Amino acid sequence: MTAKLIDGKAFAATVREKVAGHVARLKEDHGITPGLAVVLVGEDPASQVYVRSKGKQTVEVGMNSYEHKLEADTSEADLLALIDKLNKDDSVHGILVQLPLPGHLNEDLVINSIAPEKDVDGFHISNVGLLGTGQKSMVPCTPLGCLMMLRDYHGSLSGMNAVVVGRSNIVGKPMANLLLKDSCTVTIAHSRTKDIEAVCKQADIVVAAVGRPEMITGDWIKPGATVIDVGINRIDAPEKGEGKTRLVGDCHFDSCAEVAGAITPVPGGVGPMTIACLLANTVTACCRANNLNEPEGLTA
Ligand code: GUN
Repeated sequence: MTAKLIDGKAFAATVREKVAGHVARLKEDHGITPGLAVVLVGEDPASQVYVRSKGKQTVEVGMNSYEHKLEADTSEADLLALIDKLNKDDSVHGILVQLPLPGHLNEDLVINSIAPEKDVDGFHISNVGLLGTGQKSMVPCTPLGCLMMLRDYHGSLSGMNAVVVGRSNIVGKPMANLLLKDSCTVTIAHSRTKDIEAVCKQADIVVAAVGRPEMITGDWIKPGATVIDVGINRIDAPEKGEGKTRLVGDCHFDSCAEVAGAITPVPGGVGPMTIACLLANTVTACCRANNLNEPEGLTA
């Protein structure tokens, strides 16, 4: 392997430390404790794991965590009523509704009922519009984490060619907007892109967010490029024993690491940054709500 490893786990720990410092100052100087409300509807096992982890880390940095677990058959009206209550609650600075929601609930309607200034996921249509026009907004956590790592590694991103592979609302599109805001030349590649391999090969920065295990291989990567792998895919690993699995990214790690200048591993790359950025967004939302200076280095 020739690429430098970008250690997301260690980076996330430094972000959490910064957040904890700001939380302590908010408490000491202003008597304010930031609060994050997480709403989980139903019992999707992966969502339960995420929500537990979010709650634990929220408390670890000194913030208040409010968990609302609702039955899978909760009506839309009841969910909207809870969100309305949280919107009006001054002790709640951030609201996150865990996705996916059960099929009978309209995700867009639910997300857009969150007060935009408390939308720590950055999914509300107002925040999407603000980011798209380069204005101050709440920024989706995973792309924010990728941006922080890229800025840390490169300093300025100005003038770099960036290719984002994947066009989801949660990662691909906001990532492209963030890179554009940092003056990259940005291409969004996707399943219909012609000669996607050649498109990627022009990139100084590749952000892979397609959800296809090990799709991007070393021969797609320009020598020295930076590869940010957002994918978390579980695949069979018969070499580890019958029925065993392992986690891989959207990039084939070994071959990409032979060519790239720097690369994030899976696990331990982008993944840990997502919750760290959720905590960062909650502190940012709390500061904005109280007309206080925002923490530096924790926003886009
Ligand atoms: N489900 C998987 N990832 C996320 C996320 O970042 N935010 C929310 N709300 N739900 C998710």
